[in-house]
This record gives sequence, structure tokens and C-alpha cells, in this order.
Amino acid sequence: MPALTVAGIPSSLRKNAYSTGLLGAAVEVAPADLKITTVDTSQFPLFIQDNEARPPADVRAFNEQVRTADAVLFALNEHEYSISAALKNAIDWGARPYLENVWTGIPAGLLSSSISRIGGLRAKYQLRQMFDWLNVFPINQPEVSIPFAPRGSTRPASWWTKRAGN
Ligand SMILES: Cc1cc2nc3c(=O)[nH]c(=O)nc-3n(C[C@H](O)[C@H](O)[C@H](O)COP(=O)(O)O)c2cc1C
Repeated sequence: MPALTVAGIPSSLRKNAYSTGLLGAAVEVAPADLKITTVDTSQFPLFIQDNEARPPADVRAFNEQVRTADAVLFALNEHEYSISAALKNAIDWGARPYLENVWTGIPAGLLSSSISRIGGLRAKYQLRQMFDWLNVFPINQPEVSIPFAPRGSTRPASWWTKRAGN
């Protein structure tokens, strides 16, 4: 039984996404007593408030995984200087109904990557703004942001690990 459980939350639904590779690297280097489980948000319907009291089974499973985790680890890409629509959708499902916000009080690690020189940092700051309302506690250090992501597109998780350490 691991001492700490972490829900790894991918922001990209793209096959072979660079940001998901970064999450794979985190799983690879995690100490034995820390278990990171990547959650699957790929089939979530678009959040519509009319349906918030009756979320589908995969959303309910996701909410339970976040609620029972000791921490979450976001692996961000960047879309239009912000977080992806897929991640925003998953966050909305978790935050509703009002007073049943699964994010409240949870510590969050942040990884980011993008093909640009900024490495997804703008998405990271957009997400940090949401943390105020969600009541998420970001872990400030270490910072992991990988610029020029395609250079690593065919690399294994261990390559990302080495890069993140630089
Ligand atoms: C709709 C869209 C918007 C994007 N906007 C940005 C952006 O604002 N900043 C950036 O650095 N890259 C942007 N990109 C490039 C993505 O960061 C890049 O494709 C990234 O590697 C995608 O992440 P993934 O590999 O995890 O899917 C955008 C890509 C798409 C498809």
C-alpha cells in the first residue's frame, strides 16, 4: 500500500501527447511509496449544468479518484495561451454541483510542455488563477516546464525525465 496516492491529470487527449509523456516520466521517477495513477477523461461529455446532478459513470469514477487522492498532478499543454478545453471540462465536472467540489483542499503539482519556447507556462498561470476558486493548493517547487516539445516526440519517458532535470 503506497503512503501517498496521486491522481495524474492529463490535459491533452491527443494520441502520443507530449504532455502525457511528461506524466509518464513522473510515474517512472516516482518513489516506491508514491503511486501516480493517470486518470482517463477522454470520454467525458461536455459539461452542461442541467446534468451536473447525474454525471456519467466515468465522471463519477474520476471524481472519486480525485476526492480520495492525497494530491493531484496536472500535466499541461497550452491551447490559445490557456489550458485545453478538455482539461477545463474535466475541472468543471469535478467542481460541481456547488458544495461538492472534489478539488477543494487538494495539493497540486504542475508539469507543462508545449512546442513553443514558453513551455506551457501561460496555461499554468491560467490554471493557478482557477485554483483560488477551486481551493487547490499549488506546490510551487520544483517547477517543470518543457519548451520545444516536439524534439522529444519520439523519446521514451526516461528522456523526458532527464530533460525535466536540466
Ligand atoms: C488549438 C491549439 C492551440 C494551441 N495554442 C498554443 C498556445 O497558445 N501556446 C503554445 O505554446 N502552443 C500552442 N499550441 C501548440 C501546442 O502547445 C502543442 O501542439 C502541444 O505540444 C500540444 O500538447 P500535447 O502534445 O500535450 O497534445 C496549440 C495547439 C493547438 C492544436
